[in-house]
Amino acid sequence: MADAAEFQDRLLSLGLARVSEAAALASARLVGRGDEKAADQAAVTAMRNQLNLLDIKGVVVIGEGERDEAPMLYIGEEVGSGTGPAVDIALDPLEGTTLTAKDMPNALTVIAMAPRGTLLHAPDVYMDKLAIGPGYAPDTVTLDMSPAERVQALARAKGCGAENITVCILERPRHEAMIAEVRATGAAIRLITDGDVAGVIHCAESDVTGIDMYMGSGGAPEGVLAASALKCMGGQIYGRLLFRNDDERARAAKAGITDLNRVYTRDEMVTADVIFAATGVTSGSILAGIKREPDWITTETLLMRSKTGSVRRMTYRSPVR
Ligand code: FBP
Repeated sequence: MADAAEFQDRLLSLGLARVSEAAALASARLVGRGDEKAADQAAVTAMRNQLNLLDIKGVVVIGEGERDEAPMLYIGEEVGSGTGPAVDIALDPLEGTTLTAKDMPNALTVIAMAPRGTLLHAPDVYMDKLAIGPGYAPDTVTLDMSPAERVQALARAKGCGAENITVCILERPRHEAMIAEVRATGAAIRLITDGDVAGVIHCAESDVTGIDMYMGSGGAPEGVLAASALKCMGGQIYGRLLFRNDDERARAAKAGITDLNRVYTRDEMVTADVIFAATGVTSGSILAGIKREPDWITTETLLMRSKTGSVRRMTYRSPVR
């Protein structure tokens, strides 16, 4: 049973911001250094240390992988001081390891927290994703529509032509047909090389980012993180897990998933109130990246609670020691 009554989201939210800040600060010196592993490791260690200071009985449900492949923040690891509310944690200490290593836009540290038993335990497989921002009726676009139908449906709902819609898609060979079909409608495409959590969040602030819709396949864990963000900011996301082999189907079974073709809505991926924090590592359209000056280091963090719909942008400046 979800422990929603005891979820002290207001109290915990500032602590969550510190966790994502700590991961970003730790990866700061590795931006642009070409070493994805080192950047990820620094963020993981810092995130875990800071998370363990929080008064929670936390379990990582979306993390760095299975226990045998990730020594820290693996799925099932218990985190926090062991006192306080029982919570699920979804995290990606460095969303965009390659973006960080190459100093390209929109690398983030990301973490979400919700009452125990309320975040989808998505296995580490791909997910077919479709997201739009707030203000549209449910099922304005669906995963069962073709890419062109989605563009046309969204344009109708927005009251504009397809040429006024911009879609964000990960640039991958597997998306070539989708990209061609969307282009044929006249819509614009913002291609991103990595980072589909940021890709989805873009839809929630389309007037700022210029992006109306996200579509395509990416990591399922990132799908749950993106759903957490949209639950706070408004907007819809649909996700269907994609399985390429028996090993991936076994991962689903281990996570307790029996219906392999199910389409999950935002509120089925995140079934209760959630808090979400993300800190910019490299500058992008959502957050400023880490700024390093001789004596100071500055970060920007997005901190949100779904219960109130509050969205804070917090600048943190710390002396370099
Ligand atoms: P990492 O930070 O783990 O490198 O993931 C980045 C990312 O672009 C995600 O945002 C996205 O969901 C996934 O990789 C896409 O996977 P693939 O690179 O296999 O297409």
